[in-house]
Amino acid sequence: MNLPLDQILAGDCIEVMNSLPEKSIDLVFADPPYNLQLQGELHRPNMTRVDGVEDDWDRFDSFEAYDAFTRGWLTACRRVLKPTGAIWVIGSYHNIFRVGAILQDLGFWILNDVVWIKTNPMPNFRGVRFTNAHETLIWASTGKRARYTFNHHAMKNLNDEKQMRSDWWLLPLAAGPERLKDENGAKAHSTQKPEALLYRVLLASSNPGDVVLDPFFGSGTTGVVAKRLHRHWIGIEKEARYIELARRRIDAVQPEAFDPAVFDVRARSKTTPRVPFASLLEHGLLRPGQTLFFMKDLSRSAVIKPDGRLRAADGFEGSIHAAGSHLMDGAPCNGWQHWYLQENGRWVSLAEIRERYRQGNGG
Ligand SMILES: C[S@@+](CC[C@H](N)C(=O)[O-])C[C@H]1O[C@@H](n2cnc3c(N)ncnc32)[C@H](O)[C@@H]1O
Repeated sequence: MNLPLDQILAGDCIEVMNSLPEKSIDLVFADPPYNLQLQGELHRPNMTRVDGVEDDWDRFDSFEAYDAFTRGWLTACRRVLKPTGAIWVIGSYHNIFRVGAILQDLGFWILNDVVWIKTNPMPNFRGVRFTNAHETLIWASTGKRARYTFNHHAMKNLNDEKQMRSDWWLLPLAAGPERLKDENGAKAHSTQKPEALLYRVLLASSNPGDVVLDPFFGSGTTGVVAKRLHRHWIGIEKEARYIELARRRIDAVQPEAFDPAVFDVRARSKTTPRVPFASLLEHGLLRPGQTLFFMKDLSRSAVIKPDGRLRAADGFEGSIHAAGSHLMDGAPCNGWQHWYLQENGRWVSLAEIRERYRQGNGG
């Protein structure tokens, strides 16, 4: 069966997921019912009604019923995920601990819990508890030793060159013009998530062309961001009114043209084939016997042997990395960046020569 890519599938997510081929999905993002257990209507001090989540889809009779439902859909997710896939589940204190335990019981391996700190939380109107100012996202791989995608460098770039932390302060965009309204100006979906949140999730843990599944699609935030980032998406939603809302919203998204060199943020070492140093000799970009200079100290040089090893002036022989490390008292050395040669009066690094080789070989 071909995957129904870039489509919203109507129905109960467990049934729909069980109709999809197993091991076919790269990433699941799930924003399940929170089981908020709101008792009756909630009013502000001025007696206006709080527009919370009171939808039927959020009601469960007991924790047992909620757990059985959670186990059901997480099991269905596990079946469709590739072994290298991963899952994100977002929730609040009402449900996230139950979800976390069930994830672990089913064999998922929790990689992080991320807190999305809200800059515009709803106050605790009755003043009997702290303002609940965050939601929690659990990110899990399919097992303890499973490989998974993490675009570490992209996350660092998003965070001013510092490693991204697990506390996310995101602008409250889903409250601004991004927030979908119905014909009466009320929220069209009570729990529409900010696109900024999905942007970070998808950029961190998927790559262009990957298939992202959202079993609780709602207003389609996952589809919007996936489309912009050139990921495939599949949404499952049981309410017809939300399906229509999401479809219109996603249709309006016009992504920029796909260019893998632009949209693929993986480290270059993963997207480009490795080039063995000796290939540069075989293909005539370097010559055996040629002298290379060590950029940190240009008085030090080494000669290229026909098999790709370097021979230093003191007789040391080894790879470009080992010979560089030898000159740096054993410190780790990336030879591609440290060894240079002169070309028409210009210093050219081995990394630049390797780039020429890649260009010439379609790499
Ligand atoms: C918390 S909301 C998701 C909101 C979404 N992340 C967004 O940004 O709009 C959960 C959604 O799941 C849907 N839903 C609840 N139970 C479902 C089920 N068993 N199968 C499919 N959809 C379900 C609800 O109708 C609701 O739209």
